[in-house]
Amino acid sequence: MESPSRFKNLVRHIKHWFIVKTSPRKNRVYTQFYRFPHQYRVLVEQVVPQMTDTKGAPLRILVFGCCSGAEPISLSAVLRRNFPQLEYRIEAFDIVPSVIERAQNPCYSRDEVYQGPFVSETFVSETFDLADDAYRVKPEILQTISFHVGDMLDANFIDELGQADLVFAQNVLFHLPAQNARRAFANLQCLLKPGAALFVNGMDTDMRVQLTKKFQLQPEAYLIEEIHNDARQDRGDSWAGAYWGRKPFSRRSREWIREHCTIYRKASV
Ligand SMILES: C[S@@+](CC[C@H](N)C(=O)[O-])C[C@H]1O[C@@H](n2cnc3c(N)ncnc32)[C@H](O)[C@@H]1O
Repeated sequence: MESPSRFKNLVRHIKHWFIVKTSPRKNRVYTQFYRFPHQYRVLVEQVVPQMTDTKGAPLRILVFGCCSGAEPISLSAVLRRNFPQLEYRIEAFDIVPSVIERAQNPCYSRDEVYQGPFVSETFVSETFDLADDAYRVKPEILQTISFHVGDMLDANFIDELGQADLVFAQNVLFHLPAQNARRAFANLQCLLKPGAALFVNGMDTDMRVQLTKKFQLQPEAYLIEEIHNDARQDRGDSWAGAYWGRKPFSRRSREWIREHCTIYRKASV
């Protein structure tokens, strides 16, 4: 006979499957600083060192769904700390004009800065200047980023952007209706140069498996469990009751790497 805890676990998985399949998706405008610590490790230890075609040209980075700026600002701080000589430009986009206005004047409260579970004093002191209780992003970080209104569902806009070395669309695809998430993904993968990396934490796992195969993107199979567990901690305990919830990590599925992975690479030519 199934033990009560195994039975409870099975019920949770069925509930989650049902919620993922049936919940209406809705745009959510929220963000946090330094949200993805193990993804940053993969970026620093694997992805950036392997970028081959950047000799001479600055690394081009596109961030979609940037909200009020915490993600591109954290990313820039991580790159500066670990690659002080690296030249890079971050172009960050969101569809909500008011969050872009906010990002263009990036001064945050203590609560906003310390909201996420992974924010450290080192990160804060390297990223902000503190004046009159306000946390202002250091100019040398800010000057690497430009913020714009932009819609990743707009194929003409995506066409005009041209290709990039790193593309981020994190904690946004799972908030879109499935058809739109698929369209967005198809647009995003067009933006990848050969050898480029796509970061997509926060995307339904069955769609992730299907679309990364369809577009022949290879999972970056490093620290997958650690990144998954960061997302679980970030999104709280009640995973089964929300479409954004993350199941406990497991290697049981044949596709466990593609299901759990959040970073995919386009083949180099
Ligand atoms: C939940 S927030 C995630 C913010 C940030 N990426 C993070 O992980 O902390 C999702 C953001 O994506 C934006 N967004 C939704 N649909 C979009 C689209 N089609 N193109 C660009 N941004 C979009 C939302 O307005 C929102 O600010």
